Amino acid sequence: MNDLGSIPDGKVWAGGTRRLRGDAAGVTEAADLIRRGAVVGFPTETVYGLGADATDAVAVARIFAAKERPQFNPLIAHLPDAAAAYAEGRFDASARTLAEAFWPGPLTLVVPASAKCGVCDLARAGLPSVALRVPGNELARDLLARVGRPVAAPSANRSGRVSPTAAGHVLADLDGRIAAVLDGGETPVGVESTVVACLGGPPRLLRPGGITREALVACLGFELDGAEPGAGMNPVGPGLLASHYAPRARVRLDATAIAAGEAVLLFGSDLPSGSETAQALFNLSPAGDLTEAAARLFSALRHLDAQGVETIAVVPIPATGLGDAINDRLHRAAAPR
Ligand code: TXA
Ligand code: MG
Repeated sequence: MNDLGSIPDGKVWAGGTRRLRGDAAGVTEAADLIRRGAVVGFPTETVYGLGADATDAVAVARIFAAKERPQFNPLIAHLPDAAAAYAEGRFDASARTLAEAFWPGPLTLVVPASAKCGVCDLARAGLPSVALRVPGNELARDLLARVGRPVAAPSANRSGRVSPTAAGHVLADLDGRIAAVLDGGETPVGVESTVVACLGGPPRLLRPGGITREALVACLGFELDGAEPGAGMNPVGPGLLASHYAPRARVRLDATAIAAGEAVLLFGSDLPSGSETAQALFNLSPAGDLTEAAARLFSALRHLDAQGVETIAVVPIPATGLGDAINDRLHRAAAPR
């Protein structure tokens, strides 16, 4: 845990939310809060983002808690310039071409994560890829440069509500749930960034946004793969992508007794019967803290899977707060393949 300690689920931020002015002092303050593990709203040229240190899984878990997002979708990591982004991912020729043409700007590139990628498993939803973006407005880039680490940020609204284009919208949705919002006035673009995956083969349009398909095609000199021209949002939700991380082992949910040779994913202080004969144990949060559990979920699955067991037994996880997102992810991992 970082120095903000364990904040009980649902009460993500103990104090009130501060409104920081979009000047040098405000940027310094916002960067300091993010570096300490807090969640801060900040303007990009598209919409306001809900930013946290992308290298700190607990900080990223606080984003999901603040949004009340029922699923752990992969998040975009924001960087102050292209050079910083190139360090986090492996860019093929198309990715380079698009980055050079449209960054800074409303384009997100999904590329394979580099060996030294600092973006944590939770922000990447356990995927081997990473979504990177260099935002177009100066205030955001100043903030990112000051943080000095990738900043994970989904749009700064509660789940199911519209994306915010002013600091007031962020406060209306999240006052008391985040540390601060950096006020940069109205965001000029108003729709989210275009998301393009460059994972080998032709680039694929995953989400239409601030940069048009026509502009991408004109830049590349060839058609994109994926969504039909004029199609709306990609109907395949990111949580449903076949490439989504699933353990090799079978996942057995709501386990109250453990069979010999199974690996066990625990939560809280209860040990199911038979745990002594388990091949491996991992406790998501001995204290029963759902934010801590969310932060550790993907690394836990990866760790237990690496033990080479046939089955990972998972104890019941409470279906409250972040427990919903944890259970959603576990159900996907347990689904027949
Ligand atoms: O304009 C924007 O993009 C705003 C500002 C704050 O930057 N952010 C934003 O984030 O819209 P969010 O979390 O609402 O949307 C992120 C999108 C989702 O569609 C997600 O599926 C996709 O990016 N994404 C992120 N990582 C991905 C990955 N590894 N593979 C596929 N899709 C990914
Ligand atoms: Mg959103």
